[in-house]
Amino acid sequence: MRLLAILERSSHNFLPHTLSYVSVNRAGASAFNGIEKPLFLISPGEKEKLPEKSVGFVLPEEAGKMSYFLSPGEDVLFRISEGTPLPRLNVEQGGFVSVSHEVQLLRPITVGILTVSDKGSRGEREDLSGPTLARSVNPLGMLVKETAIVPDEIGIISETLTKWSDVDRLNLILTTGGTGLSRRDVTPEALLSVGEKQVPGIGETMRSVSMKITSKAMLSRGCAVIRGGTLIIALPGSEKAAEECFAAIAPALRHGVEILCGWAGECASRSHRHHHGAVR
Ligand code: MTE
Repeated sequence: MRLLAILERSSHNFLPHTLSYVSVNRAGASAFNGIEKPLFLISPGEKEKLPEKSVGFVLPEEAGKMSYFLSPGEDVLFRISEGTPLPRLNVEQGGFVSVSHEVQLLRPITVGILTVSDKGSRGEREDLSGPTLARSVNPLGMLVKETAIVPDEIGIISETLTKWSDVDRLNLILTTGGTGLSRRDVTPEALLSVGEKQVPGIGETMRSVSMKITSKAMLSRGCAVIRGGTLIIALPGSEKAAEECFAAIAPALRHGVEILCGWAGECASRSHRHHHGAVR
């Protein structure tokens, strides 16, 4: 599927663009070439439906999958949502979009974020890592469905992981905290107790990338397991460490989840970008 046209509607006329820049402003609103504007998804022949001072991205008919993500061009990501008079495009990750670019429709990946911290669970420490991870997953076309803060207790951690995978059927769970060497750190053990398979490359990558930042990275026992259709990953606890480790594994995460969930057929691809293997 290719982007057929980009049409800006001013009060009187339609202005076609071949290249444009989309972004999210501080208020979280979508902007077109630096100016806040509503962006819509339109099909050929629908341009009269475009409201004044809005922009329409023209795609073939089959593109209107509500609540999917749409990726036109390098790393640009829109979320499709309902809108009037047309489906709305919300910019999740900004960048350049050009006409005739290959466009991919991406299935949303549902995510749970579990902060494991004795102090956090008692309200004695503000959880910064959970919200940071929640922000980091958005540009990958992931939607946070569950969040919780639990103490460093293996039973409570395992119970939450089991519920989120077996009942809520989340595609991905990220835990943060409890991966170190202190007596209370038991998150990896909780993952191993509920996991059916291990994914060693994820822990290896977090540590090898992080070792270039700090030699203390070797002290995180961060790991990953699979339970049913859920990939569960234990990241370290500090906001900095969680963010760095997530960045290290992010490039392969979507593909991993798509393979696990049976959405992606094969691994060979021309593209090495995070959204390869997309649903078309
Ligand atoms: N990884 C990265 N990328 N950056 C960091 O700052 N901190 C380390 C390590 N991994 C760190 C990191 C430190 S100091 C510890 S103690 C371990 O993660 C374990 O953290 P946790 O017990 O909070 O899970």
